[in-house]
Amino acid sequence: EKGGYDHFMLKEIYEQPKAIMDTYRGRLLADKGIIKMAGIDQNLEKFLNANRIIIVACGTSWHAGLVAEYIFEDMARIPVEVEYASEFRYRNPVITENDVLIAISQSGETADTLAAIKLAKERGAFVFGVCNVVGSSIARETHAGAYTHAGPEIGVASTKAFTTQITVLTLIALKLAQEKGTLSQSKYQEFLAELEAVPTKVEKALLSNTLVEGISETYKDSSNCLYLGRGYNFPVALEGALKLKEISYIHAEGYPAAEMKHGPIALIDEQMPVVVIATKKGHYEKVVSNIQEIKSRKGRIIAVVTEGDETVKELADHVIEVPDTSESLSPLLTTIPLQLLSYHIAVMRGCNVDQPRNLAKSVTVE
Ligand code: F6R
Repeated sequence: EKGGYDHFMLKEIYEQPKAIMDTYRGRLLADKGIIKMAGIDQNLEKFLNANRIIIVACGTSWHAGLVAEYIFEDMARIPVEVEYASEFRYRNPVITENDVLIAISQSGETADTLAAIKLAKERGAFVFGVCNVVGSSIARETHAGAYTHAGPEIGVASTKAFTTQITVLTLIALKLAQEKGTLSQSKYQEFLAELEAVPTKVEKALLSNTLVEGISETYKDSSNCLYLGRGYNFPVALEGALKLKEISYIHAEGYPAAEMKHGPIALIDEQMPVVVIATKKGHYEKVVSNIQEIKSRKGRIIAVVTEGDETVKELADHVIEVPDTSESLSPLLTTIPLQLLSYHIAVMRGCNVDQPRNLAKSVTVE
């Protein structure tokens, strides 16, 4: 059942190339320059006339929502707000009939997300679901939706659900960008080709496994860890930190790299591993200067970089390479080594990786 892997989590990490491909199969017709998604096609006017998109989710799905905020605003020029479902539902939010709410949920059963959907529907918004489990409560409660085709996710820590959610949301953003004319035809075509190439690049990112296992050995006894990223990779920093805390019980925090000097930098000393996402596209020079600041305070730097990077290699204690891609698709690659890092550290600490203490796969009570 675990297909030769020691844990479901590792199996599911390795399933990502296929899961991503299954998620865009039949939808992404790159050579024709078409994205086909029934749930969007049938409700195109709702999306095109939307004043804004509100994304609600919890946990890892919320992080996918944050990545989607960057993609939607960048490509389709639609204002996006991303909300924790639990906060949204209890704060008397301003919702109008011209709002589109996108609910993201692997299980489709998360109580707070479901309640947020009901509230938005009552107030007249159009509600779209991005779920993995077919026929789940959220899939049924939404007006329309698009499934991620990740296959069953058994490990409590969400991995392939995250990358397939980003895949679906990227497809939607590209489709809307095409309809609205907010991307040039050549850029649009370029993104389609890039997205099609992601599964192969994820395969390559997975080749870092042995290297990451070695790095895990060095840091497995740490009691804290910081994760930093900017732009599209800020949510990846949050997600990396969540993975580490939930399965290894090491205290970890994710931050936008530039926020470091507003507080967290005070934590940095030779005991503090800092994972920095420093890929070439997207604020690279700024992240490099953040790395220099950490180094001058003796922090230990684990950097996720673009293949062939030389600059960060000089500065960081460890570098993990991922293939080059556009900034907007980079979360699909930079996430991979962070999943592996948390996995190996948790295994080395003797933790129950697939069923971490106090956690349930779907949170059906608030
Ligand atoms: C993290 C994790 C949780 C879920 C969250 C939302 O690894 O598994 O944070 O992401 O409970 O669950 P879904 O996506 O099922 O609504």
